[in-house]
Amino acid sequence: MSTRIPQSFLDELITRTDIVELINSYVPLKKKGKEFMACCPFHNEKTPSFTVSQDKQFYYCFGCEAHGTALGFLMEYERLDFLEAVETLAQRAGLEVPRDRTTPEQQAYRELFGLLEQAHAHFMDMLARNPAAGGYLKKRGLSDEIITRFGLGYAQDRFDGLLNRLRQAAPEGLLMKSGLFKRNERGMYDLFRNRVMFPIRDRRGRVIGFGGRVLDDAVPKYLNSPETPVFRKGEVLYGMHEARKAREAQKRVLVVEGYMDVLALAQHGMENTVATLGTATTTPHIQQLYRYTEEIVFCFDGDAAGRRAAWRAAEQTIPVFRDGLEARFLFLPQGEDPDSLIRSQGKTALDEKMKESVPLSTFLFEKLGEDTDTESPAGKARLAQQARPLLERFPDGVFKRLVFEELEKRVGTPLLREPDRGGTPPAKKFGLTDALTRATPVRLAISALLHEPALAQEVTSLELLQKSAIPGVALLASVITIWKQEPGLGHAALIERFHGQPEAHQLQKLLTWKSPRLQEPGQAFGDALNWICKKTRSARIQELIEKEKGAGLDEAEKQEFRDLLHRKPP
Ligand code: UTP
Ligand code: MN
Repeated sequence: MSTRIPQSFLDELITRTDIVELINSYVPLKKKGKEFMACCPFHNEKTPSFTVSQDKQFYYCFGCEAHGTALGFLMEYERLDFLEAVETLAQRAGLEVPRDRTTPEQQAYRELFGLLEQAHAHFMDMLARNPAAGGYLKKRGLSDEIITRFGLGYAQDRFDGLLNRLRQAAPEGLLMKSGLFKRNERGMYDLFRNRVMFPIRDRRGRVIGFGGRVLDDAVPKYLNSPETPVFRKGEVLYGMHEARKAREAQKRVLVVEGYMDVLALAQHGMENTVATLGTATTTPHIQQLYRYTEEIVFCFDGDAAGRRAAWRAAEQTIPVFRDGLEARFLFLPQGEDPDSLIRSQGKTALDEKMKESVPLSTFLFEKLGEDTDTESPAGKARLAQQARPLLERFPDGVFKRLVFEELEKRVGTPLLREPDRGGTPPAKKFGLTDALTRATPVRLAISALLHEPALAQEVTSLELLQKSAIPGVALLASVITIWKQEPGLGHAALIERFHGQPEAHQLQKLLTWKSPRLQEPGQAFGDALNWICKKTRSARIQELIEKEKGAGLDEAEKQEFRDLLHRKPP
């Protein structure tokens, strides 16, 4: 983004960074003449075509045409968003990222994060001092390495262990907000007592809550932090921060049910594993996973409850299941979980089991046909009646057409009206509701801007946006232009500017559209804008490279090319 990071800081950060040194720490580079070279980390190759220029502070791959600056490299390689990449670079350079606008809300968040961090440190200290807790984790087969990597801890067997540690750190109100304490007539007391503690981290690694397990057969076996301003259970996946760093996670991520499953699998080299927090799988869970990976494998118990949970996960996957993605369902033998399975039979057994997993489409049809006689006409009609509303929720694309064809084959009659077969716009075609509208960067950017019009003031890449061929960016650019010129203009007046045009309708829809990412409009806007600018830049660079090979570039175009290469963040 960033709208919130002063340009002067970014300039300094970029000046202080050497792209050769940065990339070399991930991919060993060899000097060849003026450039540095390596085998490209972004595609498979045997002879190096990945070059890094120290002069230009830019990388370019002749093989796959990946290119970018130091920040761009971090974003691609580490799969970070812009802010995260800035923070990572700043850390390397020993600089603190200044924010030019800290709202009271952000300040409160920061205090809460600080408190949770201190609580985490306390629990880790207590684990080191409690042989019983350490012994329990050992008995469960966890290595020291895994205990450290996942930051496990222990909450003492008393009502004021954490309270004593944090009492001085913050006023009662804030302590209560952390979710780590309860209160009765006699005052506050620790929520977690005599439990091994699993810190739950957000994508960026900040502790946002805890799960705590008893050391014996007491109930409840697990206790989790309650929802707090920084901890929303329906969106959080345990192990996400750690899994994201695993190389295989770009191809595939496993979703399991328990904390212990994540730890056991990671210890056996399957680091691409996350768990829901004892709640059902939600669309936001799946959506964030598909930002990192192409395939999700859901592992469930083979019993009836497991199959129900799997069905629910399948339903939640449908609205975000774009072409190119895959989802599979793996059912484990009764009484086993991934933890017990990998410990008793090893990784190869689990890999083998993985081959039995069924793809989403198979699972859907299996389940839909379950208690229906699909041979009889009445059964076929029932199947069509049940399947259709479900399958209509898939995003438009080849996959959707294929599942409909499959359904037609099973039912033995065409189901779509003829005009529906062509390429009519998705929203009209199946009457998708707003909730199912896909969160494309352009939609996110416009919606975030509608939430917080002041964001328009900080956009510096208007010229680039105006050149973009990405659908919808023209509208985004118009809205930014209008609000830059007339900051106080209300929403209704804005929409009236587009009176009688399709844009008016789009703006109204986006104004009421709900996406979890819009809870932080600034962040969503920055991320989206960054993506849009990056895509636009790459397209323009490509265009200019083509032109250079052919007719050649004139002075203005050469200058534009240079500017694009030394791209500045929006
Ligand atoms: P499991 O009972 O499968 O837990 O519950 P597990 O991870 O395999 O634990 P072990 O092996 O017995 O130690 C799966 C998940 O459901 C949630 C937790 O998130 C747990 O990891 N859960 C379970 C609760 O929130 N509360 C409970 O009482 C039990
Ligand atoms: Mn278990």
